[in-house]
Amino acid sequence: MANDIFEKVVNRMGPLGIHADDAHGYFTFPKLEGPIGPRMIFNGKMKLNWSLNNYLGLANHPEVMKADTDAASQYGMAYPMGARMMSGNSNYHEQLERDLADFIGKPDVILLNFGYQGVVSAIDALVDRHDIIVYDAESHACIIDGMRLHIGKRFMFQHNNIESLEKQLNHATKLADKTGGGIMVITEGVFGMSGSQGKLKEIVELKKKFNFRLFVDDAHGFGTMGKTGAGTGEEQNCMDGIDVYFSTFAKSMAGIGAFIGSDPQIIKYLRYNMRSQIYAKALPMPLTIGSIKRLELMRTRPELKDNLWKIVNALQGGLKEAGFNIGITTTPVTPVLLNGTIPEATHMTFDLRENFDIFCSIVVYPVVPKGVIMLRLIPTAVHTLDDVQETIAAFKAIKHKLDSGEYRKEKLATAKS
Ligand SMILES: Cc1ncc(COP(=O)(O)O)c(C=O)c1O
Repeated sequence: MANDIFEKVVNRMGPLGIHADDAHGYFTFPKLEGPIGPRMIFNGKMKLNWSLNNYLGLANHPEVMKADTDAASQYGMAYPMGARMMSGNSNYHEQLERDLADFIGKPDVILLNFGYQGVVSAIDALVDRHDIIVYDAESHACIIDGMRLHIGKRFMFQHNNIESLEKQLNHATKLADKTGGGIMVITEGVFGMSGSQGKLKEIVELKKKFNFRLFVDDAHGFGTMGKTGAGTGEEQNCMDGIDVYFSTFAKSMAGIGAFIGSDPQIIKYLRYNMRSQIYAKALPMPLTIGSIKRLELMRTRPELKDNLWKIVNALQGGLKEAGFNIGITTTPVTPVLLNGTIPEATHMTFDLRENFDIFCSIVVYPVVPKGVIMLRLIPTAVHTLDDVQETIAAFKAIKHKLDSGEYRKEKLATAKS
């Protein structure tokens, strides 16, 4: 007799699921309440919050809120009905695509309902079984899952290592000669954990030696990097060499949806071949019109990005000055790397949240090596320099406690009443 699938899955909860009973509602699935911003309520109390990718502070911007609510009251959430190809297209969807193309400096853009699905589906559409994917070892889950659909060969290069990429491109080129296929290199503009930038310019340079196309996921770079905020391609002055430029609305745009910018023939091909768009309902009107407004603010209010970088520089400079290891970030993503065990990480985070009223994300093994605790801070344009000072003081205090073994005690650090 066959086994019961349900019995199997509940006995194999997965690397995160095994912590569900202890962590749910506090370390996992926490509820941040009140208006989105640097101060939000967690566990009934106001906390200084560094965990949202609301880089430009647009989530709660009055003009954004107004555009969202006006569009919702005019159209509701249902409009347009159906997939864009069949019955769900609108002038607003096309306007947003044109505005995005102008902003990032690509000839054409296709809107996507979600970033994750979009990347999976774009990879699926662009490569066939004769083609070879060469990808960065630390690629986001959506890239890895896109590759799961790929039935051709794939080669992984060591994270951000150009020598390793060259080696894999040599293998891929030899194989492509046999299969008659092409090569797609996939990497990210900004790696969301370390804050390092993909070496896009150096990868583009490799096109002189190898024949490949470059796909870049710039989820964290769009809106934060480059002179105008057009992303990591602009920052590194190599946007023309990026053949498929992807970003999501989930971070700087503080919305839902995503897009790909590329040459018109490629965008036309994607419109008619991306299964996640052809077989799914179009982006609802409030998200489309709301995104047009967000993009307008990104384009016309440079002070948003200036404020973000003022906070980034104060936070990263202050942490370094205080002796913290923030790794190799060159972007707003700010990892603070400490040494300790997972139980110590849990006690320390509890202490930070309950006694210092600071909320940030905590990352432990297997995302970082064993023995490393990463506290990940995301500065935004709406944080203040006082927020930065308060945070650095708290971090000094918890690091002292960590180093002196206070978090090794059995009981969780107790909350102040
Ligand atoms: C690098 C990267 N790619 C893709 C995504 C997925 O985007 P979305 O939230 O729009 O599905 C994320 C997270 O949001 C991301 O960090």
